Amino acid sequence: MAMLTVASLRKTYTTDRGGVRAVQGVSFTVEDGRFYTLLGPSGCGKTTTLRCIAGLERPEGGTIQLDDEVLSGDGRFVPPYDRDLGMVFQSYAIWPHMNVFDNVAFPLRVGRARATSAEVRKRVEEALALVGLEGLEDRPAPQLSGGQQQRLALARALVRKPRLLLLDEPLSNLDAKLRERMRIELRELQRRLGITTVYVTHDQGEALFLSHRVAVMHDGGIVQEGTPREIYRDPSTGFAADFVGNATFLAGDVVEDGIAALGGRVRCSMPKDLRPGEKGLLVLRPENVVVRGAPERRPNEFGGKLEIAAFLGDHLDCIVAVGDTLVRARAHPSVQLRRGQDVWVEFPVEHCVAMRDDGWRPRALQRSFGEDEE
Ligand SMILES: Nc1ncnc2c1ncn2[C@@H]1O[C@H](COP(=O)(O)OP(=O)(O)O)[C@@H](O)[C@H]1O
Ligand SMILES: [Mg+2]
Repeated sequence: MAMLTVASLRKTYTTDRGGVRAVQGVSFTVEDGRFYTLLGPSGCGKTTTLRCIAGLERPEGGTIQLDDEVLSGDGRFVPPYDRDLGMVFQSYAIWPHMNVFDNVAFPLRVGRARATSAEVRKRVEEALALVGLEGLEDRPAPQLSGGQQQRLALARALVRKPRLLLLDEPLSNLDAKLRERMRIELRELQRRLGITTVYVTHDQGEALFLSHRVAVMHDGGIVQEGTPREIYRDPSTGFAADFVGNATFLAGDVVEDGIAALGGRVRCSMPKDLRPGEKGLLVLRPENVVVRGAPERRPNEFGGKLEIAAFLGDHLDCIVAVGDTLVRARAHPSVQLRRGQDVWVEFPVEHCVAMRDDGWRPRALQRSFGEDEE
């Protein structure tokens, strides 16, 4: 397999209304055999980055390297068909006029080194077995279910045994149940083959589930990179905290041992360069907020009113109003809590690490979601 290195990648689209700076200095490395995800909202430059790696776009700056071969940059540009990669797009782009066999065989029948028909058969059968479609060779492609079409696209991407796999939101056209099953299959397949993979998605759950490493993108750049655990537990910016997972933001002046918020002081640890008087931001994940029906007079305990307790089977999704601030919390489903009652929330100090406030604020919390527990 291979290691992918992208350095200082830049791509601007020329349009009637001027240049669109889609990718502005993106750098990352995908180690051999790893699953790497570009995660970010629509329009942040994920697809453009992937298309540059594939050779479908010509970047105006930066280099793209697979092991020590320069694919793009330093005056070189390897055309897509010579890049030794497989790709699956959001719309799987399978050919409806072909059967399953011919769809998968297609990449072996075009390009320079054409395979013999015996070899084509062997390779196609191997690829179909990988994705669990063996026996369906003669089926017209449109007669496959959504999940099968998705597997077919994957088989076609893998049939040439590429050194690099590029996936652009390949699960987003599937319904929720199937999407969840396919992401388990995809993870298992990638781990089994050990193929170096770049995955693009706006779905944080997918990114956390599938990836060895995640890059959070915003406005054409990478704002944070790390393992799923690092990205979730230790976001480096307000945007990253908001985009990955649910969070309550507490912003306030840094004071001794904490920040001034919720009409008092919330104790937290602080990066060294954040000093009293500066603006701090504390990001609280719902599973780290404890909700109780009675006070226990513990540090970082605040009284409030339970606005919402939505039953989601494996947990209760709660929103507690502490003054004007809506705090999101997660409780065990057996906990007896009623909407409108007085409750106390606790932010255990070990989960409280403030960062410098960069001014980012989350989308407004919806007061009505799910079914209320009455
Ligand atoms: N072919 C194109 N021509 C002009 N602008 C484009 C083109 N493709 C994408 N863009 C713009 O570039 C930016 C990044 O797009 P894209 O890479 O598709 O983002 P993402 O995949 O993260 O949604 C967006 O502002 C988008 O509108
Ligand atoms: Mg896209």
